[in-house]
Amino acid sequence: MIYLYGAGGHAKVIIEILEKKNIFISGLIDVNPDIKKVLGYPVSEVLSDTLSLNGEVEIIIAIGNNVVRKKIAEKTNHMFATAIHTSANISVNALIGKGSVIMAGVTANSGVVVGSHNILNSNCCIDHDCILEDYVHISPNAALAGNVTVGEGTHVGIGACIIPGIKIGKWAIIGAGTVVIKDIPDYAVVVGNPGKVIKYNYPYKG
Ligand SMILES: CC(C)(COP(=O)(O)OP(=O)(O)OC[C@H]1O[C@@H](n2cnc3c(N)ncnc32)[C@H](O)[C@@H]1OP(=O)(O)O)[C@@H](O)C(=O)NCCC(=O)NCCS
Repeated sequence: MIYLYGAGGHAKVIIEILEKKNIFISGLIDVNPDIKKVLGYPVSEVLSDTLSLNGEVEIIIAIGNNVVRKKIAEKTNHMFATAIHTSANISVNALIGKGSVIMAGVTANSGVVVGSHNILNSNCCIDHDCILEDYVHISPNAALAGNVTVGEGTHVGIGACIIPGIKIGKWAIIGAGTVVIKDIPDYAVVVGNPGKVIKYNYPYKG
């Protein structure tokens, strides 16, 4: 029994990933009482008590914001499911953490380790031996060369490129189209080619 937490656009993408694999979706949960249905699935504000006590319920946090995903995951006692699109090319020697969502056309090569509650967005490419910590989002068409590490909560923007062996810190933001050729410190916002730090953001202080 799978529920999605969050009923916005990201949830719609996840619904379609699960439907393609004939995985049954019980419904969605969202704090906004005005959303009643998404793609035909019922949306409620909370799980009923009966369901809350039922160990068979699995959740996917269908929220794109990395900070919000972390906060919800830390408050939730349920098991987490993963959603992996049928067209994703995931090595048998890659590990995908609980609650993570892998969209259409993603490649994750041998030795890749993806943490919990990651989003690997459409057509991103994660080459061999990359390590992604929890709550990371790799945007569409971003490419990570081999042996890159990405710290917790970092967002790699659409179409960014990261050369081999780079270490990106936690809660950093790599701007759209950025080419990263040097290690990136925690909380840095990086843009351009070659990528340069333009400021520091502190979206999450653990
Ligand atoms: C990097 C980013 C987060 C910065 O956003 P911001 O904090 O609002 O920063 P601003 O828009 O004020 O831009 C600050 C400066 O950086 C420049 N800049 C911003 N993003 C840039 C980018 N991707 N590449 C090159 N320069 C960029 C701006 O032109 C501006 O330069 P200026 O000070 O000379 O005018 C944002 O521009 C971005 O690229 N986000 C990625 C979004 C994405 O890929 N989403 C995918 C969702 S699936």
